[in-house]
Amino acid sequence: MLDNNVVKGLCECVVKSQARLCVEVGSYLGTGSTPILAGLMAARKGRLFCVDHFSMDLMRLQKLDAPHYEQFLANIHAMGFDEFITPIRGKSAEVAQTFTETADLIYIDAGHERQQVETDLRAWLPHLRDGGIICGDDADHAYREGVVGALESVFGSFQQQGRFWWVQPTPTD
Ligand SMILES: C[S@@+](CC[C@H](N)C(=O)[O-])C[C@H]1O[C@@H](n2cnc3c(N)ncnc32)[C@H](O)[C@@H]1O
Repeated sequence: MLDNNVVKGLCECVVKSQARLCVEVGSYLGTGSTPILAGLMAARKGRLFCVDHFSMDLMRLQKLDAPHYEQFLANIHAMGFDEFITPIRGKSAEVAQTFTETADLIYIDAGHERQQVETDLRAWLPHLRDGGIICGDDADHAYREGVVGALESVFGSFQQQGRFWWVQPTPTD
């Protein structure tokens, strides 16, 4: 189930950044980015790039009927979001190197170890437009060393509501 603060935070970030071109780093089963996709659908335009290696063994771990990527696509289709997404299969930092778009909103929710989060933040920040928002999940006690440590290291400070965090860097940051 989606965390209320994450849903609220994502909705607010979509509005605040006037998000049209968005990236979710770590899409899992496609349900966590519903608030972003609902915003794009309401505006009848925009795109969410869903970056994930999509190679978790969910058939064994969660007893799902379909492999990770197929289940992701099925969930997106069931929610009616097909036309708004572009899945990109690959390791996030490698995908960032070849990504050529500039994003209004980047949602970081892939690896949660400190080095993984730092790597993702530094890899994706150059793709954020001036005035855009970078945000994510799990800035809480459970990920004090990982997510929070990485955020402090990269940004110094960040805003948060519950476990949802966000930063709207100024052009000089
Ligand atoms: C916490 S889940 C994402 C949850 C999702 N954002 C949601 O709210 O439902 C983490 C996802 O990141 C993916 N992932 C982890 N490390 C990755 C990496 N280095 N590159 C690409 N995907 C990665 C995993 O496959 C998994 O699907």
